[in-house]
Amino acid sequence: MRPARGIDAPVWLRDLWYMALPGRGLKPGRMQAKTILGEPVLFARDADGKVFALRDLCPHRGIPLSCGRFDGREVECCYHGWRFDGTGTCTAIPALTADQAVRIDRIKVRRYPVAEQHGLVWIFIGDEAAAAATPVPDVPGFAPDARPSHIETMVFPCPLDDAVVGLMDPAHGPYVHRSWWWRTKASMHEKAKAFAPSALGFTMVRHAPSSNSFAYRLLGGKPETEIAFRLPGVRTEEITVGRHRFAGITTITPLTPTSCEITQTMYWTMPWITLLKPVLRHFARTFLKQDGAVVTMQQAGLAHNPSLMLLEDADTQAKWYYLLKKEFARAKAEGRDFKNPVKARVLRWRS
Ligand code: FES
Ligand SMILES: [Fe+2]
Repeated sequence: MRPARGIDAPVWLRDLWYMALPGRGLKPGRMQAKTILGEPVLFARDADGKVFALRDLCPHRGIPLSCGRFDGREVECCYHGWRFDGTGTCTAIPALTADQAVRIDRIKVRRYPVAEQHGLVWIFIGDEAAAAATPVPDVPGFAPDARPSHIETMVFPCPLDDAVVGLMDPAHGPYVHRSWWWRTKASMHEKAKAFAPSALGFTMVRHAPSSNSFAYRLLGGKPETEIAFRLPGVRTEEITVGRHRFAGITTITPLTPTSCEITQTMYWTMPWITLLKPVLRHFARTFLKQDGAVVTMQQAGLAHNPSLMLLEDADTQAKWYYLLKKEFARAKAEGRDFKNPVKARVLRWRS
């Protein structure tokens, strides 16, 4: 595994919320297995609609519990029928005879803290006390029970850092996303955006978006946008146009050391965008595919472990990302509060 480039930060951060899956894909009484940060996790939604997550390994002989059955209350292992409830506590071992006094409630499967809001299921990879003290990333301008208007998911065959840095990179647009309907090289111009530190990250403060972006013009009126990034790899964007609002949350969740899942979830209040959903979906998929293609090509080069550069303002957000990771890991290791290393400033680049 390569170390984070230029700055000595861990590959993965623990004690943070990671977006696990869209809630609507997990129906009551169903379970779903997923590897997150290399850990096998079983997600299930019980008969009451509550989601829980357990380590997807039977403590008896290690078979994934997700190979078994779920009745809406308990998961039954497919090998010898041991049963576990939503807290991960063993409730039945069918092979025991009546006189074998085993305290089965002491047999536990690891339970992960989960939270469901804005239609997304989040998992906390870390300890329970830290989960309670860490807020779940918010979607600005929408209540926690708001349902997503659209969700797009793609797996990128690259480490977390390459995906995060690739998606936050402000200078690749005219090259990676070049197209007649979005940006051309000729439309490149100098930009200056004000940034400020914010919870576990930084924010590009509220401003009127770039005049060369067709999608913003589509919105009509005078849109204003605010973009925030926070650890571990969560970007939110809020666009307001008069009384209407649009929000997007992009989450990057590492699955294994060399793959991660990008999910873009959108919320809006404008009824007319719903009519344009097929078009929007096409744009969103095209963008994600272009980003995925470029980081995939990049892996061929990175396999040779070259030294890399983070140059001037166009790469400052990437620099901040590595600094944030490093500081987060350090603060945890030293048992102290996180001190945001980002200082408010204006970044200038051409794109
Ligand atoms: S392996 Fe799960 S019950 Fe035996
Ligand atoms: Fe991109």
